[in-house]
Amino acid sequence: MAKLKVGILISGRGSNMAALIRAAASPGYPAEIACVISNVADAPGLPIAAGAGIATAVISHKDHPDRESFDRAVSAIFEEHGVELVALAGFLRILSRWFPGRWAGRLVNIHPSLLPAFKGLHAAQQALAAGVRVSGCTVHLVTPDLDAGPIIAQAAVPVLPDDTEETLSARILRQEHRLYPLVVRWFAEGRVAATGRGVTVKGIPSGGTLLFSPEP
Ligand code: GRF
Repeated sequence: MAKLKVGILISGRGSNMAALIRAAASPGYPAEIACVISNVADAPGLPIAAGAGIATAVISHKDHPDRESFDRAVSAIFEEHGVELVALAGFLRILSRWFPGRWAGRLVNIHPSLLPAFKGLHAAQQALAAGVRVSGCTVHLVTPDLDAGPIIAQAAVPVLPDDTEETLSARILRQEHRLYPLVVRWFAEGRVAATGRGVTVKGIPSGGTLLFSPEP
């Protein structure tokens, strides 16, 4: 069966992108990474993708008069590569309203908190400041509102008494690297369906809405 073609947008180190590339390298995985685009020319993730033989591109907002024209340029490159699912992976630029419309139901993001708590930057620091005992990560469909689209799956981690932003972020990141490839697999297997209330994941006992995921 043809593999689902995934396009990834990054701005930085690209560890989630690398996790998706690693997953896609295993023979039975039903998706392939067709193209990686960065809005930052020296993003450390770019050489990782290129080194894996994946097509890469840099699109700078400086070359575009407004957000939508930037987003249309990104889309055009994904279309050239036959992309069917777009995954944001540490992409730090706010999208125009046009982009989530163009990729409706086929645009996902990973965020380092149990949304809807702690949207935006420094999610681990926000969790520590709030004193929560559990945090985690969320993969969700992207809508025009920041970090607010329907939740597809979540993985939870404990917040430990002596955690710093670094230690908690690292614990969450290890779960991100498990969760994102799993959700992309679900898309490739045609399990993810938008419903009136949000998203259901067919054939997954938890429904995909909450995944308690102890570290191996
Ligand atoms: C991750 O924590 C992700 O959840 C957030 O940005 C960070 C990106 O890290 N959206 P990386 O570039 O994937 O290493």
